[in-house]
Amino acid sequence: MADYKALKADEEYAGTYDDNRGVFTWYPEFLFGLMYEYVKARQTILDIGIGTGLASQPFVKAKLKVSGCDGSDIMLDTCRAKGVTKDLQKLNLTQVPWPYDDESYHHVISTGVFHFIGELGPIFAEAARIIKPGGKFGFITRLPNTMWDRPAEGEGYREITREDGVVIYIHDNLWIKDKLAASGFEIVKELRTLIWSGNDSGEDYIFKAWVAAKTPVT
Ligand SMILES: C[S@@+](CC[C@H](N)C(=O)[O-])C[C@H]1O[C@@H](n2cnc3c(N)ncnc32)[C@H](O)[C@@H]1O
Repeated sequence: MADYKALKADEEYAGTYDDNRGVFTWYPEFLFGLMYEYVKARQTILDIGIGTGLASQPFVKAKLKVSGCDGSDIMLDTCRAKGVTKDLQKLNLTQVPWPYDDESYHHVISTGVFHFIGELGPIFAEAARIIKPGGKFGFITRLPNTMWDRPAEGEGYREITREDGVVIYIHDNLWIKDKLAASGFEIVKELRTLIWSGNDSGEDYIFKAWVAAKTPVT
């Protein structure tokens, strides 16, 4: 289930999200660099959990047709006001099916969202349903920082409650791979990435960016 507190916490800083992201060195635009070789102008791309549209902006510049969805009205309003895209819908990603037709998008992306969702199987299945064959699914998951927040073998993901009460999920790499394969995806890229915690004495956050192709690849 979606963590209501997670949506609430994001909404609290939605208006200043873009200004404050430097505190965490959060630059989701880097996903574009991983996907650049696979995308073409005029193709369609859906950003799930688009927030203020940071990850989508380079795809807009590259002349793809960007659509987005998010569970937060404030995030969607901010994204709309920035002129990233007008094609925005409010939806909770954990409620499936999503209101998009089969094979209706060339690509789907998501950054900074899946660490708020534990069970990703239905999300991957929906992404596979709406992506055209050969299209790409680019997304980011949170990796463990220490042995204490590492999912146990076979556990899939570890649930952790942050100091502000927001529940986050750390996913096991092998579990992600199995879930992607079960939904008909073939992994084409994996990149481990550090995000500064905003505090020199604190530990960096470790994330992983994934790019997977919807099979069959045509
Ligand atoms: C940290 S922000 C990331 C926003 C943007 N993708 C970025 O990289 O800057 C997380 C976003 O996920 C959205 N979100 C979290 N859980 C969600 C859910 N279950 N359904 C839809 N949106 C969700 C939040 O509203 C928020 O906009």
